[in-house]
Amino acid sequence: MIVPRRALILGAGAAGLARTFSLRRSFAASETREYLLAVRTATVNLTGNGYPDTAVWAYEGSVPGPVLQVRQGQPVQITVVNKFNEDTTVHWHGIRLPNAMDGVPGLTQKPIRPGESFVYEFTPPDAGTFWYHPHVDTLQQLGRGLAGALIVEEPEPVAVDRDLLWLIEDWRLDDRGRIAGGFGNRMEAGMSGRIGNTVTINGRVAEKVSVKAGERVGLRLVNAALARIVGLRFEDHKPVVVAHDGQPCEPHLPEGGRVVLGPAMRADLILDMTGKPGQTYRVIDDFYQDLAYKLVDLAYDGKPAREPRSEPPQQLPANPLPEPQIAAAERLEIALQGGMMGGMGMMCGDGATWTMNGMSMTGDGQSMPPLFAIKRGKSCVLALRNETAWWHPMHLHGHSFRVVSRNGKPNPGKEWRDTVLVPPRESADLAFVADHPGDWMFHCHVTDHQEAGMMAVIRIT
Ligand code: C2O
Ligand code: CU
Repeated sequence: MIVPRRALILGAGAAGLARTFSLRRSFAASETREYLLAVRTATVNLTGNGYPDTAVWAYEGSVPGPVLQVRQGQPVQITVVNKFNEDTTVHWHGIRLPNAMDGVPGLTQKPIRPGESFVYEFTPPDAGTFWYHPHVDTLQQLGRGLAGALIVEEPEPVAVDRDLLWLIEDWRLDDRGRIAGGFGNRMEAGMSGRIGNTVTINGRVAEKVSVKAGERVGLRLVNAALARIVGLRFEDHKPVVVAHDGQPCEPHLPEGGRVVLGPAMRADLILDMTGKPGQTYRVIDDFYQDLAYKLVDLAYDGKPAREPRSEPPQQLPANPLPEPQIAAAERLEIALQGGMMGGMGMMCGDGATWTMNGMSMTGDGQSMPPLFAIKRGKSCVLALRNETAWWHPMHLHGHSFRVVSRNGKPNPGKEWRDTVLVPPRESADLAFVADHPGDWMFHCHVTDHQEAGMMAVIRIT
């Protein structure tokens, strides 16, 4: 059963103030930062007053999981304890790390069995907004609540009055507040994936976020949804994008005034509170035509905080990414195929719904030969061609890439990303240096698509 997408219970009877994750800088950068993450079941309230609680799967029993914070270049050690009745792993999405720490079962590690634990250790080379999630039975484990933010702090604090995090999740709840079943049904998997009916910010349907006129807010957005793409408009405000997927870019206004994030994508914004004291301004998600809804209100305090700043937001210091040599790069063509094509027909047979170059890796995808093998240190261009009628946010593990062109035209900013959203029938060229040896996943982050074949391994030797 597909729950009508219009049945959004957003806002109605919501708890009022959004749960804010105000980020404070952590201390000493020299010693190893240690965290413990127990994977378990929990009961939380996602929707606020008047709605029932929801049984979830959660890191440390909270949705989203705890915000992990480290300094750039600070070693971190995270012990994941599986107190749950299914195997799991944790993938540190976007972090450039040794292959053995990447959290892919059967490829980079053995799954963490119930009752067992695994210690992840790495030193994040890049400052920015990252996140973590399971890579086993991902559709259910992520869809039932296992996700959290991983913030890597810049060595020097960014000049903002407040640093806020909005981790966005999308849930399909029934009228008793339970997570609806039917994960991975074939019909949905061949279309846009499992889009829910309830969108939360930091684990709560949010009514408003309190702000003050004159404030400069750093807003870190994480789209942790299974399938929902968001397109956020900040009514009468001008958010400036300063990073994509944790990687600094030239500060710019979002295209068309809208911040578009596919599943797994992040954006760091500088948002100057230029509204009037006492006023309320909407943040709207209108990515899907006819399905626009208000995500949250920016509610201004009666008194301004300060005079508005006149200086424009500064560019963040660059991360130490290896620069690909485009002219000498090896070009690897990847065709994305499959899915529903308007009629009811599916493009490929045998259980798989999607393919990459005609191959399908399904489920958690352990046992497939690599799509490509690349020599370590080589520059390569992944030339993606989306031949389907659907959007695909394509994610490469362990590396960030430059989006050098789209549809054959040079991409002006050539921004760095770890996940690129490729619209239907469009193409994108991604350039990177294959500098970390190992087997790395490259897959669509619409989780239904990933599990129904849109997944491959790239081997770096
Ligand atoms: Cu966030 Cu393999 O993914
Ligand atoms: Cu996809």
